[in-house]
Amino acid sequence: MKPNSPCLLAVLVLAAAGCAHTGGDPSVNALPPLSIIPVPSSIEPAAGSCRLAAGFALKADVEAQGVAAYLAAKVERATGVRPDLSPAGGGSPRAPGAGSVTLRIIPDDPELGAEGYALQVAESGVVIEAPRPAGLFYGVQTLLQLLPPEIEAASGGAPASWSIPCVEIRDLPRYLYRGMHLDVCRHFFDVEFIKRYLDLLALHKLNTFHWHLTEDQGWRMPIAKYPRLTEVGGFRPETLIGHYGDQPHRFDGTRYGGSYTREEIQEVVRYAQERFITVIPEIEMPGHALAALSAYPELSCTGGPFQPATLWGVFDDVYCAGNDSVFAFLEGVLGEVAELFPGPYIHIGGDECPKTRWKECPRCRERIRREGLKDEHELQSWFIRRIETILTGYGKKLIGWDEILEGGLAPQATVMSWRGMQGGIDAATQGHDVIMSPVSHCYFDHYQQEPAEEPVAFGGLTTLAKVYSFEPTPVELDADAALHVLGAQANVWTEYIDSPEKVEYMALPRMCALAEVVWSRPGARSLEGFLRRLDSHSRRLDAMGVNYRRIR
Ligand code: ACM
Ligand code: ZN
Repeated sequence: MKPNSPCLLAVLVLAAAGCAHTGGDPSVNALPPLSIIPVPSSIEPAAGSCRLAAGFALKADVEAQGVAAYLAAKVERATGVRPDLSPAGGGSPRAPGAGSVTLRIIPDDPELGAEGYALQVAESGVVIEAPRPAGLFYGVQTLLQLLPPEIEAASGGAPASWSIPCVEIRDLPRYLYRGMHLDVCRHFFDVEFIKRYLDLLALHKLNTFHWHLTEDQGWRMPIAKYPRLTEVGGFRPETLIGHYGDQPHRFDGTRYGGSYTREEIQEVVRYAQERFITVIPEIEMPGHALAALSAYPELSCTGGPFQPATLWGVFDDVYCAGNDSVFAFLEGVLGEVAELFPGPYIHIGGDECPKTRWKECPRCRERIRREGLKDEHELQSWFIRRIETILTGYGKKLIGWDEILEGGLAPQATVMSWRGMQGGIDAATQGHDVIMSPVSHCYFDHYQQEPAEEPVAFGGLTTLAKVYSFEPTPVELDADAALHVLGAQANVWTEYIDSPEKVEYMALPRMCALAEVVWSRPGARSLEGFLRRLDSHSRRLDAMGVNYRRIR
């Protein structure tokens, strides 16, 4: 490990010493050096080591019971042995000598904030303290990374007795918003995989899952009031073979699609909540709406007919901004979305909406005239403002891609800056919250090495080092505006990603680098240190069976 802090080097030495103490006891598994990703704010090594066995006494405050249950289930799944869960300070352990882990809420440490934690590994046991349960959860993630990688395995074969170097860690995230996106429209991914993706987010202390649920090529979100959205809009007749740039275009001739049930969505939301992950659903408008228009063509400017797209790209047919039925429809859709997703935000897309149809459409022209708008860009802005009013009525906040700046931002909108950093800079300067997700660093559908060596991808080149070099807060912002940068997110668009294995390949290890960008302080990290820790961390991904891209 590269000692960007001298403490880390000392930890290594102590870790080695701790292992030496275990010599002669084959049931105790020696540990490799500490390699925590994302790297914590402060690590203070201490002398000695802590012995822990899977049947350890797990003591937890009332508020910490959920996190304790998560830890107990995880240990049991990997080792076949369930920790002995009891209230903090209560009961004696069923397995004397197995050690203890205590999870405690400490409201009097405001410095740690809503997500920070303090983790102490002493010879007498492990104590994790945090002002809030989310902090305890992140402390547990760090503790798991102090255990052998097999703790991440799914099937009972992991060693069940460990020696952990004594250490004190205090840690809190740099940014409030630490996100990963997944497009389930270009290709569909079932709930089992979504849960696995959420596990990967949790492992890396990421706290937001942006679920891209509607697109030109498929509508995946069940809406009871408008069943044709999934029945018709959920299926396309065929899919492009190879890359868009390969000419002539060839298609596979196979109907493709799928959608989630309400129960599955609820299951995902619950699973995410247990991992302190907020799910942000994205319902695209006014553009990227061809699947919806295939089901309800009367919502377009021309009346159709349409079919969900079989090619990738940007399409001229979008929701008609002059037709009030469109807003009644969207109000109905968003009402059901708001009901299923308890988080504060709904993402409404807003990107890549051609104005071709609006320029020709009498109803759109009439809307522009009646509302006193200058042009179609102001019509888009008017559209988004009207949607914001609907969302406010549902108690939700609007997020949109940075095109929602054009023609003027809706009053409370949060901007996700993707075409670069400028949209984010402009929005933050205007006092709006911003999430940075620029195509330059955060598009994990781009190649991660020279294309000749890689499976087909969208294009571009976003190496691991490039992701690691990302700085979400632009120097152009003054201190007040900088506070509006809530964090950053990476996006996994799936035009060229047709299997869970390929999602993993494209997302990891770049997700590990993003996690460090959004969690760790710049002064506490370096690329060299990260790469060394990633080497050990990869064993953890191996134990989970993740198809990550190897660092060669
Ligand atoms: C986007 O990549 N069109 C947000
Ligand atoms: Zn129109």
